[in-house]
Amino acid sequence: MNLFDVYPLNDVTITKAKGSYVWDSEGNQYLDLYGGHAVISIGHTHPHWVRRIEEQLEKIAFYSNSIQNPLQGELAKKLGEVSGKGDYNLFLCNSGAEANENALKMASFHTGRKKIVAFSKAFHGRTSLAVAATDNKNYVAPVNETNNVDFLPFNDEEALAVHFAKHGKEIAAVIIEGIQGVGGINVASESFLQLIRSLCDKYGAVYIADAVQCGYGRSGKFFSHDFAGVNADIYSMAKGMGNGFPIGGIIIAPHIKPKHFQLGTTFGGNHLACAAAMAVLEVMKEEKLMGNAVMTGKYLRDELNAIPEVQNVRGRGLMIGFDVPQEIAALKKNLLTNQKIFTGEAKPNVIRLLPSLALKKKDAEQFIDAIKEEIEAFAVAAE
Ligand SMILES: Cc1ncc(COP(=O)(O)O)c(C=O)c1O
Repeated sequence: MNLFDVYPLNDVTITKAKGSYVWDSEGNQYLDLYGGHAVISIGHTHPHWVRRIEEQLEKIAFYSNSIQNPLQGELAKKLGEVSGKGDYNLFLCNSGAEANENALKMASFHTGRKKIVAFSKAFHGRTSLAVAATDNKNYVAPVNETNNVDFLPFNDEEALAVHFAKHGKEIAAVIIEGIQGVGGINVASESFLQLIRSLCDKYGAVYIADAVQCGYGRSGKFFSHDFAGVNADIYSMAKGMGNGFPIGGIIIAPHIKPKHFQLGTTFGGNHLACAAAMAVLEVMKEEKLMGNAVMTGKYLRDELNAIPEVQNVRGRGLMIGFDVPQEIAALKKNLLTNQKIFTGEAKPNVIRLLPSLALKKKDAEQFIDAIKEEIEAFAVAAE
């Protein structure tokens, strides 16, 4: 049997990982500023995370959600503490798409309405409703097409206000990434998020903060949406939550009440996933990783801003993007091939940095030296 060919792949086989580094099958060491697509939050194979999972594995890995699982309650308590949203309620699932799918469904159950507002360049996942709210026709199969989702321009306050004035009473939810990831690292403005809050309040709609990529401390705050100083009704989470162990979830504000059987899952919140997620929160707190994301992120953005060929540096904390001019569009590839540094990308020429939140200053310095060297090599080649 062959694999179904869904992506073009880098020709690298990673066999070992530690902290912000990975090694390939030939023993080459790479600096990982991609974090396996923003998933590695506390660092690869963190010893506390490994120990927590191993200890849990010796006891029990899985049982169905038909029994009490105190680990879920412990995780909810810890998450409430670290996120500052202790009065929200947690529903656990397995991925980002599933988290958004459940968030949108919950908003529709709660309001009894069908319409969803999403934004240009949004990515919310690949399941049916999540993909319908994703602004990329290539991902949407005919069966996912719906006229229940309206796309509005990102950060356009007037367009949003006009849309609500016309359709407010039909809108179940507004879903927005605090910082768009796949769309190319675009930060939602604070006033835009505040307007979403006030329009949702006025018209009885649900504000869903997609924090799958920009959440879990990556921006320097637990949720990047929190920079706006207003709360969402539902936050969706996944990537950084398990540091690579598959787990996702939504936290739901207390005014949205649960009704039995509206949500459910077989694997979500299993014992092993909860152990991994607890380890992540413990390490984030113990090692003050949100503070590190602020500091190391600022260093990277300041240094990148000082390089003339690097354009439009943006983002928050350790979620950073910048544009690369067409003449040096091979920069990302050269960083990987020549400098052994993994970075992320967005179309057309955006480099995305999504490293572990424990990235050290010396690793950030290594990247800055490497990018300068590669840019210089383009200049020499052009002479
Ligand atoms: C903002 C955002 N939402 C949702 C998803 C979907 O997450 P998953 O791939 O875990 O389903 C992603 C994945 O990249 C994402 O970046």
